[in-house]
Parts: sequence; structure tokens; C-alpha cells
Amino acid sequence: MYNDRQVIAIVLAGGKGQRFGKDIPKQLYELNGHPIIYYSLKVFNSDHFIDEIIVVSNKEYLEATRNICNIFHKVSDVVVGGETRSLSSMNGVMSVRNLNSYVLIHDSARPFVTNELIRQLLSNVEETGAVIPVLRSVDTLVEVRSDRYVANTLDRNSVFRVQTPQCFKYEVIFEAYRRYLGKFVDLPDDSSLVIKEGISRVKTIEGDERNIKITTQEDILISINFSSFYSF
Ligand code: CTP
Ligand code: MG
Repeated sequence: MYNDRQVIAIVLAGGKGQRFGKDIPKQLYELNGHPIIYYSLKVFNSDHFIDEIIVVSNKEYLEATRNICNIFHKVSDVVVGGETRSLSSMNGVMSVRNLNSYVLIHDSARPFVTNELIRQLLSNVEETGAVIPVLRSVDTLVEVRSDRYVANTLDRNSVFRVQTPQCFKYEVIFEAYRRYLGKFVDLPDDSSLVIKEGISRVKTIEGDERNIKITTQEDILISINFSSFYSF
């Protein structure tokens, strides 16, 4: 509970992990003895503010995903995802039953979400109804044209990298996906839909460098170090 609202985590695990290149989706791949999705479920399940977790699963791996979820008592539902991240996220949002809630939408491919980040998101969500964690880039960022030549060097002070969880008042994210229905463009994250549909302003807070998204095999090398901090 937070501000008299239920707090619901939606954990997205509907992807195939094509860039990761294994024969199972990356969220089921084991890192230091546990599937990648296990780590974020563990954090949400033990978080003081979280009341309920909804997991959005890849259709082909529903049983395997359910088996992992079994030990987490806050998981109330494992629903089937869609062809794209946006459709999976929409399925998660539409399966929320308590309308007086805050939702945190999270990529299961980010195992190292923290209780502190959850707390920061919740304490900032009331103002606009939408808040996301962002990070500056240490590298110079450039805009590159389709011919691979640099078009522009971007201002590093105004360009940020976006992470999950992203936190919303339920009515904000519900309205975004209600308008999205039937438009089959895939968006990279949930806050971009809120902006695209003009629902509300999106506030940013400081993200966490450890909260990486596992995308390719190289990311496993970094993750093995981080996961050793967990004493499961
Ligand atoms: N996701 C999802 N449903 C999809 C596609 C992605 O729930 N149809 C989830 C993934 O499981 C992941 C998160 O969205 O936790 C971020 O997506 P990404 O890192 O792109 O994962 P994948 O789509 O699985 O990987 P790839 O793009 O390499 O295939
Ligand atoms: Mg993807």
C-alpha cells in the first residue's frame, strides 16, 4: 500500500530473447543458480509496499514461468503476453483488478531492481501520475543518419537512458493502453505511450547503474558480479 492505494508490480516476461541467442528466453536462463526473472520477483515479493505481482509470460513457456512464480506468494496471476512488448504490457495492465492502485511495470530482463528504487518511484508518482528512472550517458551521444554518417552530436545534459520499473497511477496507464488498443506499433517502453497519447507529463528520477537490462551474452559477465551480492 502507498497513499491508500494498492501497489501492483507487472513483470514482463513475454519476450523471446532473440539477441541473447539461447534456446530458451533469457528471463528463464540461469544466473548464479536462479533464472533471471527470479531476482526481480524476489525483490518485489519481499518489498514492503508491493501488494501484488502480475507476471506476463511467453505463451510457449507458461508452465516453466508458473513453476518459478509458485514460491512467490504475492504473485496473483500469470497471464499470457503478446507478440510485442507493448502488447504484453497491455495484457498486464488490462488484467489489473484493483483500479485504486499504482502499477510498476518492469522488464524481467532487469534482475537488479532495488527496494530503494521502488520507494523513490512511489514517493514521486503522485505529482503527475507517471514517473520513470533515467540515467545520464557517460559516452558522447550522436545522431547517425541512415547512411551511417553523423548528423549531430546530442547535448549530453538533455539526453537520458530510460530504465524500468516505470510507475503509474492506474488510471493513467489504463487510459494509455485503452487508446493503444488496435494500434499495433511496438513502443520501447510504457512512458513513451503515455507521452504519445498525451495523457500526462512524465516525471523522471535518478535510475540505478546496477539495474541493467540483460540483452546479449556480454551482459551476463557483468551480471555474475552483481548477482553474487544476493544471498539467496
Ligand atoms: N517482452 C514481453 N513481450 C514481448 C517482448 C518483450 O514481455 N513480446 C519483455 C521481455 O521479456 C523483457 C522486456 O520486455 O523482459 C524487454 O524486452 P527485450 O529486452 O527486448 O527482451 P526480448 O524481446 O525478449 O529480447 P529480444 O528483443 O532480443 O528478442
Ligand atoms: Mg525485444
